[in-house]
Amino acid sequence: MEQIAYVNGSFVPLSEAKVSILDRGFLFADGIYEVAAVLDGKLIDNASHLARLERSVGEIELALPETTARIQEIQQELVKRNNLVNGMVYLEVTRGADTGRDFAFPKGVKPTLIMFTSTKDIVNAPSAKTGINVITVPDLRWTRRDIKSVALLAQVLAKQTAAAAGAGEAWMIEDGKVTEGGSSSCFILTQDDVIVTRQNGSEILPGCTRKAVVALAEERQLRVEERAFSVEEALAAKEAFITSASLFVQAVVSIDGKKVADGKPGPMTNRLREIYVEFAKATAV
Ligand code: PDD
Repeated sequence: MEQIAYVNGSFVPLSEAKVSILDRGFLFADGIYEVAAVLDGKLIDNASHLARLERSVGEIELALPETTARIQEIQQELVKRNNLVNGMVYLEVTRGADTGRDFAFPKGVKPTLIMFTSTKDIVNAPSAKTGINVITVPDLRWTRRDIKSVALLAQVLAKQTAAAAGAGEAWMIEDGKVTEGGSSSCFILTQDDVIVTRQNGSEILPGCTRKAVVALAEERQLRVEERAFSVEEALAAKEAFITSASLFVQAVVSIDGKKVADGKPGPMTNRLREIYVEFAKATAV
């Protein structure tokens, strides 16, 4: 059976899900997106994703065409229509299709809202057991990375470089420090057991999984420090890991071909992953 997508008020087969070539998402990357995980047919940490969506659209003066409550209903309806058990819901809102290609905001144009789903067994992904290799690349992005914009060319190039090198993620580097992964937040565990992740700000996307992991760690009296760190520090660390909606918590076992510790996922990473999965299941909607 063909997958169902959502486009501007309608649920349609994926092959019929279309937007205009004049859509500003297509012409200018004038749009915002979110990815929420699905476990056992339920959305994970979705309130956090919808709060970030509202913030991102606010930062670019784009009005959502639906309330976030309605958006969640549509996400849930799409999961149901696709019989999705484990995977992700992708959603994108753009400034819509005008009659031409004016850079400035058009007047009276309705934003475009689309969604589709994909299947992935995030909990049992093989890389959750083995960890992943990462490579480093310069961070080529603009200076408002806190906005979850669909302008992802720098991340496409970064992740292609990683893929070509047989790595699972690219860590982006700026001024000698790791900003974040191509599509993930970065963490290390120092030799004195401090969990370190870069502080939020315009240099990185405020990851929803990052936020939950930091809160869950602090609730358990684990020490967390929000500050930038270098690749050298990561290579001298006890453990390194990444977080995102599409992989939860995943160990980083090498950086640019050099092992992190013994090159195996560490106990803290495994523990945080378990804690996160437990939280995810308990709060799913
Ligand atoms: N990416 N940093 C960047 C640059 C990201 O693109 C993402 C997520 C994250 C992690 O955020 P969260 O924990 O809210 O998923 C950090 C999504 C999954 C993607 O582009 O597919």
